[in-house]
Amino acid sequence: MTTLSSSDIRARFLAFFKARAHAILPSASLVPENDPSVLFNTAGMQPLVPYLMGQKHPLGTRLASSQKCVRTGDIEEVGNHKNLTFFEMLGNWSLGDYFKEDAIKWSYEFLTSKEEGLGLDPARLYVTVFEGDEDAPRDLEAVEIWKNYIPENRIYFLPKKNNWWSPGDNGPCGPDTEMFYDVTPNGLGDMTHDEYVAADDDGRVVEIWNDVFMEYEKKDGLVIGKLAQKNVDTGSGLERITMIVQGKSNVYDSDLFAPVMNIIKDTAGDLYDEKSARIIADHVKASAMLIADGVRPSNKDQGYVLRRLIRRAAIRAKKLGFFEKMEPHAEEYEYSYNVFSDLLSKFFELYEDTDYLGKVSGSQVSSEKHLLVLDEFKKEVEKFSKTLELGLKEFEKNTDPFVLATTYGFPIELTEELAAEKGVAIDRAGFDAKMKAHQDLSRSGSAEKFKGGLANTNETTVKLHTAHHLLLAALQEVLGKEVKQKGSNITEERLRIDFNFDRKVTPEELAKVESLVNGWIAEKLPVMRREMPREEAEALGAEMEFGAKYPDIVSVYTVQKPDDAYVSKEFCGGPHVTNTGDIGVFKIQKEEASSAGIRRIKAVLS
Ligand code: ALA
Repeated sequence: MTTLSSSDIRARFLAFFKARAHAILPSASLVPENDPSVLFNTAGMQPLVPYLMGQKHPLGTRLASSQKCVRTGDIEEVGNHKNLTFFEMLGNWSLGDYFKEDAIKWSYEFLTSKEEGLGLDPARLYVTVFEGDEDAPRDLEAVEIWKNYIPENRIYFLPKKNNWWSPGDNGPCGPDTEMFYDVTPNGLGDMTHDEYVAADDDGRVVEIWNDVFMEYEKKDGLVIGKLAQKNVDTGSGLERITMIVQGKSNVYDSDLFAPVMNIIKDTAGDLYDEKSARIIADHVKASAMLIADGVRPSNKDQGYVLRRLIRRAAIRAKKLGFFEKMEPHAEEYEYSYNVFSDLLSKFFELYEDTDYLGKVSGSQVSSEKHLLVLDEFKKEVEKFSKTLELGLKEFEKNTDPFVLATTYGFPIELTEELAAEKGVAIDRAGFDAKMKAHQDLSRSGSAEKFKGGLANTNETTVKLHTAHHLLLAALQEVLGKEVKQKGSNITEERLRIDFNFDRKVTPEELAKVESLVNGWIAEKLPVMRREMPREEAEALGAEMEFGAKYPDIVSVYTVQKPDDAYVSKEFCGGPHVTNTGDIGVFKIQKEEASSAGIRRIKAVLS
């Protein structure tokens, strides 16, 4: 049998289960549609939870898919181990249809059959089953079935920690049986229980498939009883199984990564280091998949994960010299982007057989999805490029991680990792406390006073404060840049701004201002605080209140569009919301004269 490609493996898996009366489901989006409790689908079964719980599935009781998954629990491990951020999970399900007998038989057949499956060597297979506890009995039934296929002395009993699976603290769950493959050159042969456990610990056997017998339900972390139906939920990581089938010792050598790794190697030349290359490859792929599924870099939720992935890849790219090879100024960002765009384009090709990243036609990167992925990735890299160099310099000076995060856009996890590499400790608790204080002030409102800023920092006034910045920006856009703030006042009910303008503002102009502000709110733009020398802030053109006195180091709050254009930049002590999406609906209540040449607007939020 010639070596199967990853596409062959995916296709064979789906064909195998189709031939056994399973309906084939397309992969659901990485972002769960109806489950706000998780950021991403982390297992093939996630989109199927309601059906495992008993709801009728329109396509019947036998399903199979290759589901896109993202697991971020161990981003830090990526590059060290065989962990991947993005992976595909091959899975087949029985919704109260077949149970252990068929599930085990088909797993075995698919793994070992040369004609229909992967043709793996049965002499290298080991199996674990649930040893039993107060929630469920020892799984002797699974052992009896397995004995039809593999010697009993290669079946090991393990506790719940190993052989019980649930997607979280609530939902369907059950004991499982896991299949492992011996990846040593000469083969391990028969092993005692302890020898087997040791072989698993040090990676001489690798888990390749998990069959979960989902007949129980969990609530708040406790198994509360049986479900109405006995389900089967299986999962096999495509990248892992491909690595095994292709006889590689790590996933990056398999056909799902090797062409991308080669580009990185060629570009980096003497600066090449394997760990950085793996991180870049993993993160670029995961980012592409996330963008294709609608995620955009931001400071929240899925967007924050995406931002972290892209920035982490950028730091590694810097390490490999991708940024250094650039021409000064404008082109420097272009170059970094070009390397990334080469990697992205290679991934487009590698996923041609799926609809994940769009279709490649000839050598042309043509589809809208491609352009979108390239564009979003580019924007985020460019944005970070601007503070990356400075941030790294600051990092070398042991600058406070809080400043690195809020001023230079270094996610804390990234700072921690850089510090660990240098053997320097980071005060994570101190960082979290500062961040929390920062967010309490800017997001959820705290009773504390913010020095030099607002006296009243409850939630509504914080929102009004950010709305105030947007309002000034909108007034300048509609009435002209000459408009400057001449006074302001915020209470819990409303905001008030005084500004220079020598006539009444028309209702049409007011409507325009209102819709601009609400537009920026709808765009959910990040609100960032940066500390900088006063001169720098002045040079940036940040708004200052006329007549006010500012210290040498000032804090500037910016609201920026994804393309980096400033919506607003103002000298300000804060606090503010972290995202304009948190503001609510903005409404102008009144426009009137305040004094000669000065107009006054009052506005509210709902
Ligand atoms: N849902 C099971 C897992 O993720 C199959 O391992």
